[in-house]
Amino acid sequence: MSNLRVAITTGGGDAPGLNAVIRAVVKTGMSRFNMEFIGIEDGFEGLINTRRITKLNRDAVRGILPKGGTILGTTNRGNPFEYEIKSPDGEKRVVDLSDRCMENFESLELDALIAIGGDGTQHISQRFFEKGMPVIGVPKTIDNDLLATDVTFGFNTAVTVATEAIDRLHTTAESHRRTMVLEVMGRDAGWIALEAGISGGADLILIPEIAYDLDEALRFIKRRYARGSNFSIAVVAEAAKNKPHPDDEVHRRRTTDTPGTWFAEMVRKHLSVDVRQITLGHLQRGGSPTTLDRMLGTRFGVRAAELVAEKGFGRMVALNGTQIVDVPIEDAVGRQKFVNPDGQLVRTAESLGIYCGRPMG
Ligand code: F6P
Repeated sequence: MSNLRVAITTGGGDAPGLNAVIRAVVKTGMSRFNMEFIGIEDGFEGLINTRRITKLNRDAVRGILPKGGTILGTTNRGNPFEYEIKSPDGEKRVVDLSDRCMENFESLELDALIAIGGDGTQHISQRFFEKGMPVIGVPKTIDNDLLATDVTFGFNTAVTVATEAIDRLHTTAESHRRTMVLEVMGRDAGWIALEAGISGGADLILIPEIAYDLDEALRFIKRRYARGSNFSIAVVAEAAKNKPHPDDEVHRRRTTDTPGTWFAEMVRKHLSVDVRQITLGHLQRGGSPTTLDRMLGTRFGVRAAELVAEKGFGRMVALNGTQIVDVPIEDAVGRQKFVNPDGQLVRTAESLGIYCGRPMG
């Protein structure tokens, strides 16, 4: 029997399904491989300071499956290789604390680390692996923009929350004959906007992968009003881009507008219709994971525990079609997955008459 001592950490922004991974790793590791677990709190911060650890056993993971967030805490700061330190006089310097982490890893008598996180966390994991730390990666982001895996857990919950928001906006928009502009997350990619927009029956979906023409988007809304559709719902990704427009120059230089607030402002200014803007923000990340995210997190967790037992270090679990596979972390980092403007999803939206930033036929 193995008796391996394994640490688990969660880094980067939280995503619904993280606790499902932790639970599956611990249950699988304990029952099938006789492993022992500790949790490292707040991502790699907890490895810099070894007092930030917690015991993980069956009791610790009981009842956490439906819980959002992460029982281990997380942070999207604190890269040990480029750690920012502030001296008492307020001066900042960047230091490399990775050796300290390696020493702490040794002193905790660990045999492996399972790092659950997005691209930033996996990048750090790879650097530790190159320094000799036995690391297994588990990918995570609500944005679903990691190329190495078909889907990340957290994405389905985010899309579900955004879809429900669109459903709710429909009834109030229709009652007041308003244009509603809903801004959704997606730091670089438009997956949440596109899938929620299609599922919620939005009229316009603006994503960073297709730079839209403001005048064209406004004409689209105007035509809807002219045809008797007395309301419109626009879903705008937080990274949406418009083609250069004179209003863009004047407006954005003066304000801190986001793509959603700016688009709402332009509709108000140019169409003289009643407009409301909503930014969904972290509501998309909080709360209980959907069944799909619980399933994916659980499957990732089981495979991560198996990989530790197989000593498949330097590898990351991933979904390929319907199968959980594993890929080198090295090949996974820094490779993003974007919406294909000419792909099936955009075509699906456009077939339904949704304006996605291109002239409608
Ligand atoms: O990457 C996940 C994500 O939720 C993005 O959609 C968003 O841009 C960002 O994180 C927000 O991060 P923070 O936790 O710093 O607010």
